[in-house]
Amino acid sequence: MNTNQHNAAQPSPTEAVLQMMSGFWISRGIYVVAKLGLADHLRDGAKTAAELAAATDTHADSLNRVMRMLATAGVFRHEGEDRFALTPLAETLLTDAPNSLRWFAIVEMGDEHYEAWGNFLHSVKTGEIAFDSHFGMNIWEYYEQHPENARNFNNSMTNTTQFVTQAVVEAYDFSGCQKLIDVGGGLGSMTAAILRANPHLAGVVFDAPSVVEKSKKLLAEAGVGERCEAVGGDFFESVPAGGDVYTMRWIIHDWDDERSLKILKNIRRVMPENGKLLLVEAIVPSDGQPHLSKFMDLIMLTMTGGRERTESEYAILFAKAGFKLSRVVPTATEFCIIEAVTA
Ligand SMILES: C[S@@+](CC[C@H](N)C(=O)[O-])C[C@H]1O[C@@H](n2cnc3c(N)ncnc32)[C@H](O)[C@@H]1O
Repeated sequence: MNTNQHNAAQPSPTEAVLQMMSGFWISRGIYVVAKLGLADHLRDGAKTAAELAAATDTHADSLNRVMRMLATAGVFRHEGEDRFALTPLAETLLTDAPNSLRWFAIVEMGDEHYEAWGNFLHSVKTGEIAFDSHFGMNIWEYYEQHPENARNFNNSMTNTTQFVTQAVVEAYDFSGCQKLIDVGGGLGSMTAAILRANPHLAGVVFDAPSVVEKSKKLLAEAGVGERCEAVGGDFFESVPAGGDVYTMRWIIHDWDDERSLKILKNIRRVMPENGKLLLVEAIVPSDGQPHLSKFMDLIMLTMTGGRERTESEYAILFAKAGFKLSRVVPTATEFCIIEAVTA
């Protein structure tokens, strides 16, 4: 294909856009190898596509073609003769790698997310949630009905996000707090890490009953089961009382303003006057700078009907629920801790 004035250092506009578009094929390839757990099969050394196909019950020639394409992008090393080895990029897809991206790739690049993204134009045309209009239910109802997808999603939240969890633990001083309630806490990985680093702290992981059932195991394995309860419920109805610090990571961004206010008001109702509310979210910069939040925002548009917000949008939301934004604590990642107190 003639892409005009080829120059490796400075691709032409045509080349640059074609590179962006090829990201689609790369991400489909990453999904396939993540789903097959292919990286795990290369842990002990290079293998041929035929050996990998036999181990993963796939078609050798097709698998070879996917892997040589991914090798072009640096995911796997093509050693010739249809033989492939791990690279540092491929190692991120090992199931037990720290911060493993395997589950995140399965969830975000494939399965239910992929189908919803196929309906993305619908969101842009109508403002409706692509996922809901495609599946006829919201994503949380879908996960209730599809336990394997729910398991992958919860694993992706737990594993891929370990670096954010660590950054939150390091960035915020919990020494003055007694009891933390993590609203929509998922499997409890953030609560467990905060409690491990703060032995004086008690905790509650609050989430849908089907989710907290599994969080008990994670909390016990993390050695904080004695100090942390797992409570099932619906945050649109109520949240547990008794905490002096309420945390929500990636919860408010899942919902529109009306639904977010319901959750915030339920927390306001039970939070003591000297309590703290901490949101862990990516704040959209108001000055047009590139930022991860602008990508995540489209996931919310497509999947949940939520949105990423600017700092002033959070301040307005808090004010409507009886809170006051007190400060934004940066972390070593693109996510911040947005602290609110009672107004
Ligand atoms: C994006 S995940 C974030 C999970 C967790 N905070 C973390 O950072 O890993 C959103 C969570 O909200 C929970 N959730 C959704 N609707 C809920 C509801 N009505 N009541 C309680 N939890 C809910 C989901 O089960 C899921 O665990």
